[in-house]
Amino acid sequence: MSQFTPGEKHTEEKKTLTLFQPTTKSVFWTMIRTEAIQHRFNHTPPWMYPIRNWLFKKLVAEIDGKPFFIAGPIRFQQGNHTHVGRNFYGGPNLVILDHGGVYIGDNAMLGPNVTLASHAHPKLADQRVVRPFPDTFEPYGRGEIEVIAPITIGNNVWIASNVVVCPGVTIGDNAIIGAGSVVTHDIPANTLAYGVPCKPVREITEADRLPEEAFAGIPRYD
Ligand SMILES: CC(C)(COP(=O)(O)OP(=O)(O)OC[C@H]1O[C@@H](n2cnc3c(N)ncnc32)[C@H](O)[C@@H]1OP(=O)(O)O)[C@@H](O)C(=O)NCCC(=O)NCCS
Repeated sequence: MSQFTPGEKHTEEKKTLTLFQPTTKSVFWTMIRTEAIQHRFNHTPPWMYPIRNWLFKKLVAEIDGKPFFIAGPIRFQQGNHTHVGRNFYGGPNLVILDHGGVYIGDNAMLGPNVTLASHAHPKLADQRVVRPFPDTFEPYGRGEIEVIAPITIGNNVWIASNVVVCPGVTIGDNAIIGAGSVVTHDIPANTLAYGVPCKPVREITEADRLPEEAFAGIPRYD
């Protein structure tokens, strides 16, 4: 099991306004490292998956054991604020903006074009607009500011295609997020949710179980 307990660990952080400045030297060099690793990942052929998996382990803060599969290409902001549980599936074009922290439980399935965005920006233009980065490391006001909040995804969560998860959201265990959703609020465990904004539609129940006979003849992996 993942060491992360969705919805509990970060409750206090979510209540607090937290700002992050990405235009510092240390963040810059971390992001250069991130760029280098993910460039190599994205240019390593899929059949060389042991190398891709090795690179992915270097990229994220932690990924708990194996197996895991990342279709690629991937795009991370830093990677070292992303924590992933066991048996992770990441679909094509996975984007994780992790300055606010991203915590993914076990057995997560993320479909194509999923974006996990753990930061936003100030709403007032005079607090948001900065000079192009990177042009200089000389002091120039405050630099870019991000408003960050962690994203927490429980165990056994399926996030379908083209979903955006916004900062501070917790998605409970076994939940399903339908295709095209924009998740702005927490989604309870065992819930089917979709839409823009994403709303819980109904509980997932035994009535959703596919008939066992439909699995006859389907090969099992050992
Ligand atoms: C989550 C999901 C499986 C729900 O499907 P479902 O429970 O079978 O839903 P239904 O097809 O019975 O649709 C029920 C209603 O909800 C609507 N609906 C279903 N999914 C929706 C979604 N993601 N967004 C908005 N409305 C949705 C349907 O239009 C339908 O409305 P209607 O009653 O007015 O016709 C589906 O939304 C989904 O995301 N499928 C995955 C597609 C995908 O991304 N596959 C790639 C693998 S990750």
